[in-house]
Amino acid sequence: MKNSAQLLLQEYQIDDLKLKNRVVMASLTRGRADNPGLVPTLLMAEYYAQRASAGLILSEGTWVNSKSIGFINVPGIYTQEQVEGWKLVTTAVHNKGGLIFSQLGHIGSATHPDLLNGELPAGPSAINPQTQSFTPEGFKDTLVPREFSVAEIKQTIQDYQQAAKNAKDAGFDGVEIHAQAGMLIPQFLSAATNQRSDAYGGSIENRARIVFEILDAVIGVWGSTRVAIKFTPVALSHVGIMKPDEETIPTFKYILKKLSDYNLAYLHIVAPAEDLTGTAVEVMQDDYFSHFRNNYSGRLMANFGFTQLSGNAILEEGKADLVSFGAPFIANPDLAERFTYGLPLAESDQNTYYAGGEKGYTDYPYANYKSESFSEY
Ligand SMILES: Cc1cc2nc3c(=O)[nH]c(=O)nc-3n(C[C@H](O)[C@H](O)[C@H](O)COP(=O)(O)O)c2cc1C
Repeated sequence: MKNSAQLLLQEYQIDDLKLKNRVVMASLTRGRADNPGLVPTLLMAEYYAQRASAGLILSEGTWVNSKSIGFINVPGIYTQEQVEGWKLVTTAVHNKGGLIFSQLGHIGSATHPDLLNGELPAGPSAINPQTQSFTPEGFKDTLVPREFSVAEIKQTIQDYQQAAKNAKDAGFDGVEIHAQAGMLIPQFLSAATNQRSDAYGGSIENRARIVFEILDAVIGVWGSTRVAIKFTPVALSHVGIMKPDEETIPTFKYILKKLSDYNLAYLHIVAPAEDLTGTAVEVMQDDYFSHFRNNYSGRLMANFGFTQLSGNAILEEGKADLVSFGAPFIANPDLAERFTYGLPLAESDQNTYYAGGEKGYTDYPYANYKSESFSEY
């Protein structure tokens, strides 16, 4: 039965931007920019347009410069050719009445020379993050990187700013800074990967400095209410040595307090995939999102493992303002409509996540709302 009254389907205003519902499509790297320039393609435009009934689409993580690449066939937003490719995507989404933010990312040291024309990756310190990188020859272990000079840090911040300008030129509606576990920003936040003794290392304030310098640079282009940031504060797996430690909670308290003054579009928080018992962040296990709600005064987007039921529940409890869905959007391009009609969700094929081509990408059908049981449509 049609149920438009559920909170997930209510409109939501982010300053002057009206989302038609609170079902947000989270960023999904799909490895379809399979061309030498890492340029978004018409196939990608079709894929995103199919998902335009989401209240907001977040693009796949997108490289801010040629040194930030950490995965094959993932598009960038640092060349004019890439900007032109993204125009195809944003135009297709807008023509279907959707909204789309660009997710701006940098992989830092968690990459491999095979993806950097043979160059050694760079990060906050010359410390191997001990993760893996998806290269043209498959997964490879990360290496001991080069340490960023201060001039390189400043250049990287400028590259984020240029990428933000490019996102504007490409017709996006805003940007989300990709600070998920394993990326450059968390590499600065973690004392395991950041042992610098300058203004970007040591104290919590210093390790978090880059977060605010990147935000300030990007906000200079867009204004604060079109800029968001996504963190996975307590990820345990696939993060190498960047595991949560006793400084994680004070670090995020510091970041949340400072971010509360920013009036961002939203703060996007991913819940843990694992049991936190016995870890330094065990106290966050219960009522996870309340820890963020209580320490951050702005708009909050919740992510990880949400269903229609749990998504509506967290909105009803007032513990989040928006809910994002990642994997469910792969096989359910019409996720918001399926929630409207309470339809079962299709399962995605993990073998095609990064496989290239249309299969498992643009060939997942919409549900049939016009069948007899959905006559109200
Ligand atoms: C295939 C795939 C690719 C992903 N790529 C990105 C990405 O580029 N950027 C990002 O922030 N998160 C990425 N994620 C994480 C999702 O955005 C989301 O945080 C995660 O899947 C949990 O949400 P879910 O339980 O609704 O899937 C990816 C997840 C999947 C399954």
